[in-house]
Amino acid sequence: MPTRRDVTYTMRPIGVVHSPFTDRAEIPMGPGAKHEAEGTLEVRPDLEAGLKDIEGFSHLYVLWVFHKAEGYELVAIPPTDDRPHGVFATRGPYRPNPIGLTVVRLLRRDGNQLRVRGLDMLNGTPILDIKPYLSSIPESELKRGWLAEAEAKSKRKS
Ligand SMILES: C[S@@+](CC[C@H](N)C(=O)[O-])C[C@H]1O[C@@H](n2cnc3c(N)ncnc32)[C@H](O)[C@@H]1O
Repeated sequence: MPTRRDVTYTMRPIGVVHSPFTDRAEIPMGPGAKHEAEGTLEVRPDLEAGLKDIEGFSHLYVLWVFHKAEGYELVAIPPTDDRPHGVFATRGPYRPNPIGLTVVRLLRRDGNQLRVRGLDMLNGTPILDIKPYLSSIPESELKRGWLAEAEAKSKRKS
């Protein structure tokens, strides 16, 4: 008897990312990397009505597919550190479900096109979902795990 863990969910992208990045090497990464790239989230015309009232939000979560990444590693050394970490303690592309999550600033909406800043994905990346970004966790309660140590180490070196 299959359990819910064995079910496969099929999703159709709601749109596509138009980003300035055509090669992964162009995307800033590593400790302190800033994501300022602008581009467009193009939502399928048949779903445009679902964007009603999105203009009121300054930031959005974008859920997307690492469509150029194949396979996964449960433990790997990320580019931001020299020690191995579990895949679920990283944001890397090689994951059992290759889903990316990026917070972007919404600059404007033109119909089914959302102009945004803060992209870190390749041009042509499929979008699975868009949601308003709402954070209720105070900065003082956030812990950055191994990344905090890696960032501090990298600062000391520079
Ligand atoms: C470290 S991941 C973080 C992505 C997202 N912010 C997240 O946390 O899920 C960003 C990297 O994914 C890779 N990448 C971006 N778009 C991709 C795509 N469509 N397919 C495969 N890899 C991609 C690039 O190497 C980029 O530097």
